[in-house]
Amino acid sequence: MTRLAAGTALVALSVGVAHAQEESVEVLHWWTAGGEAAAVGVLKENLEGEGITWSDMPVAGGSGQAAMTALRARVTSGDPPTAVQMLGYDIKDWAELGVVANLNELAEEEGWDEVIPAAIQEFSKYDDQWIAAPVNVHSTNWLWINKAAFDEYGGEEPQDMDELYTMLDAFEEQGIIPLAHGGQPWQDGTLWEAVVLSVGGMDFYKQAIIDLDEEALSGDTMREVFDHMTKLSGYFDENFTGRDFNLTTAMVIEGEAGAQEMGDWAKAEFLNADQVPGEDFVCMRFPGTQGDVLFNSDQFVMFEVGEDKRDAQLKMASAVMDPAFQVAFNTVKGSVPARTDIEDTEFDDCGKKGMQELAEAAENGTLAGSLAHGHAQPSAVKEAVFDVVTQHLNGQISTDEALEQLPQAIASAQ
Ligand code: BGC
Repeated sequence: MTRLAAGTALVALSVGVAHAQEESVEVLHWWTAGGEAAAVGVLKENLEGEGITWSDMPVAGGSGQAAMTALRARVTSGDPPTAVQMLGYDIKDWAELGVVANLNELAEEEGWDEVIPAAIQEFSKYDDQWIAAPVNVHSTNWLWINKAAFDEYGGEEPQDMDELYTMLDAFEEQGIIPLAHGGQPWQDGTLWEAVVLSVGGMDFYKQAIIDLDEEALSGDTMREVFDHMTKLSGYFDENFTGRDFNLTTAMVIEGEAGAQEMGDWAKAEFLNADQVPGEDFVCMRFPGTQGDVLFNSDQFVMFEVGEDKRDAQLKMASAVMDPAFQVAFNTVKGSVPARTDIEDTEFDDCGKKGMQELAEAAENGTLAGSLAHGHAQPSAVKEAVFDVVTQHLNGQISTDEALEQLPQAIASAQ
C-alpha cells in the first residue's frame, strides 16, 4: 500500500469510527435552576460516557408550562426532540396524539414492570405500552427552614397552621422575611395545595382535587383554605411577584427569609449552595400534612424519531432506569428514586425521610398526585385552578369570589 493509500484508508476508518460515535439525543427539559442543572449534568455525563452526545433544549419555567408550549411547536413541525421531561397528565395528552415511541421491548428486558410503582406506571404507560422512563419521585408538601432562624425560634417543628403562624411571627420579630414565596402561578398553586391538604386532610384533598366535588370546592373548608392563603400572604415580602423558586430558596439559604413552602427540588438548591440538612436547613412536611404525600414524577417521554436516532434513544431510556444512575441523580436533584428496589444508604436525612414516607403513604392510602405538578388533573383544569388561586393571592378577587369562581372555572376547563 502506498503511503497515500494507507493515509486514505486511515481517514476512511476514522470517519467510520466518528460516524459510529455520532449518536446523540436532544433533550427538552425545564431544569434551569442551579440545583436542577447540577442534576441534569449527572445524566448528561452518564450518556456522554457511553459515547452519546447531549443536545440540550432547556425551556425555563417550573412545572413545565413553557416547556410544553415549546414542545408543541416542535411536534407540529414534524421534528420532535428525542426525549422530553414531562409530568403526569401531560404524558397522557401527548400519548393520545400518537407521537410517542414504544419502549416495551426494553422495559420487558429490564423488568420495569416489577420495580416501578403502579401510581407512576399509570403515567409511564399508554394502552399497555411503555412510552416513558420515570427518573424520580418528587413531593410538593414540604417546608424548608433556615436552621439559624429555626434554632433562635426554639427549634420546635410546627405541627399545624396555628403553630406555623407562631413560628412566622417569631421570624418577623427576628427582623427577617417570615415566609419566602415566589409569586408565579405554579408556585401559588404549590402553596395552595399544601394548605388544602393541611386544612382539610387527605380525604378532603381527594374529594376536592381528585374528584372535583363541587361542594368541597366551594364549601366551608375551602373558605378556610383561602382565608389561610390571605393570612400567609401577609408574611411575604413586597417583591414576591414573579420571583423564580430558586431565587426564593436563596433567600432562605442566605438567612434573609425564615422559610419556604416548596417541592423537594428546593433541597437541590440548598445542596448546590453546600448546605447540609439538619445543620444549615430543616426539611419538614408542611405543618398539618405529616404522613401525607403529594407526589409528582419527572419522566422522560420518548418521542417517535427516525431509525438513526432510535438506538441512542433506547440507550438513554436504559440509562435513566439504571439503579446506580437513579441514586446518583436523585441525591443531587432532591427527589427520590422512581424504582422501589433501591437502598436509601446514599441519601441524606431529608432523602431518607422522603423515601420512607413515600413507601408508607403508598401503603396507607395517604398518597395522592400533586395538582400543581400535573398528577391530579389534566393541564386545562390545573391552569383554571391557578387562575383563581393567583388572582386571590394577589388580592384581585375576594374569598367569596374565589369560592364562586373555583368550581365554575374547573367546570368550563373540562
Ligand atoms: C419538576 C421538578 C422541577 C420543578 C421546578 C417540577 O414540576 O417536577 O423536577 O425541579 O418543577 O422547576
